[in-house]
Amino acid sequence: MFLHRGTENKEIKMNFEFQNPTRIIFGAGNASRLGEVVAQYGKKALLVTGGGSVKRSGVFDRAASSLKAAGIGFAECSGVEPNPRITSVARGAEIARKEGCDVIVALGGGSVMDASKVIAAAALYDGDPWNMIYHGQKDVYAPSEALPVITVPTLAATGSEANCGAVITNEETTVKSFIQNPLLYPKAAVMDPELTVSVPKDQTAYGVCDLITHLTESYLNGSGNTPIQDRLAEGVILTALTWGPKAIADGSDVEARAQIMWAASVALIGWAQVGTNAPYPVHMMEHTVSAYHDITHAAGLSIINPAWMRFAAKSNAAKFVQFAERVFGLKAKSGHDLVCALAGIDRFEEFLRSIGCPTRFSELGIGDALFETYAKDTLKIVNDGKGNLPGRPPMSVEDMVGIFRSAL
Ligand code: NZQ
Ligand code: ZN
Repeated sequence: MFLHRGTENKEIKMNFEFQNPTRIIFGAGNASRLGEVVAQYGKKALLVTGGGSVKRSGVFDRAASSLKAAGIGFAECSGVEPNPRITSVARGAEIARKEGCDVIVALGGGSVMDASKVIAAAALYDGDPWNMIYHGQKDVYAPSEALPVITVPTLAATGSEANCGAVITNEETTVKSFIQNPLLYPKAAVMDPELTVSVPKDQTAYGVCDLITHLTESYLNGSGNTPIQDRLAEGVILTALTWGPKAIADGSDVEARAQIMWAASVALIGWAQVGTNAPYPVHMMEHTVSAYHDITHAAGLSIINPAWMRFAAKSNAAKFVQFAERVFGLKAKSGHDLVCALAGIDRFEEFLRSIGCPTRFSELGIGDALFETYAKDTLKIVNDGKGNLPGRPPMSVEDMVGIFRSAL
């Protein structure tokens, strides 16, 4: 899935096992059903929230009344930060244990949902929750149980509402990395696009960039022979290109919010990934950059992804031509595949700029001082055993530094 730790891309036939057990309840107005849904999984909830947006927008009060009406008591864990920290996970697990919570409700964006999933496992684990996060340690602790999680996304971006991954930062060691475990699939995702109308323009744009990047990663790093996943990815990207700018232009456009919300889910809940055997190198590099600078995840992606694409297109031009032709309507002239591939990447980058995403590190005030450190740290988390970051093509430290430098 999204953080697939593949080693090499091989031309293999599709061969996979796939189950996504999360029940999805989608549509405007469905937030009022939260209590009824939670009551099927527990009696006392830990309600996890971020820095206050849900309180300001009234979403918290609506969720609280729905829980109360269904007879569900709740304790609160608020203040989960964007790029959620392991200290917040530990705090949430402690509250869940102390308060006797038997179900976790994540009310927020990807950061709140990711923290909630790890809290769900950490609440039933006596050890340090950081042991569960893959950061290059010899013995990764794989949780054997977790409390049920219900997600209520308030931001369309990560797909975390219905996948089994979570990304957590350890601010002491400057590492941002992931856990992926089937136990972390939320039991249900209550997806109400009305909850996203308060998302500001920049975060809406970042969400669009994130969801598209989830698809370009599997599409462009995949092993081939996946025509269904290709068409699915192209369709969702085209949907995001159409509806993303509408949601940014008018945040109260619930139809646009709904299309983007569903696009973000479809982009990373497994269907576009199965059978592609694709690692996610742009994500791996971005997580390391985020660990050092605490930047918004998709701001990092919108800088690194086009730069990576220009590097990767040289050895995988045919797939990039397919992307340019099917997504941007370009046409390769015979013998000029790379020209068309690069033109498609230019169009993609123009789109990112048009919605207000940065495409150069300098826009975020980030210089080149740590480029080699990012590359080396990325390899500590994922590598192919030969000193390369898995991807199509695999990348050495020098390759990664070159990619970062080209986006300075
Ligand atoms: O913290 P609050 O006050 O809630 O404000 C948040 C935050 O400042 C705000 N926000 C959320 N919903 C809102 C809202 N503001 C107004 N109205 C609303 N309805 O938006 C800001 C960003 O929130 P955050 O949750 O951090 O954003 P996102 O959903 O993009 O999540 C990013 C995190 O998810 C990880 C990223 O690395 C990052 O840590 N990812 C998780 C993945 C997964 N689990 O599958 C995959 C992704 O590739 C990604 O790595
Ligand atoms: Zn992402």
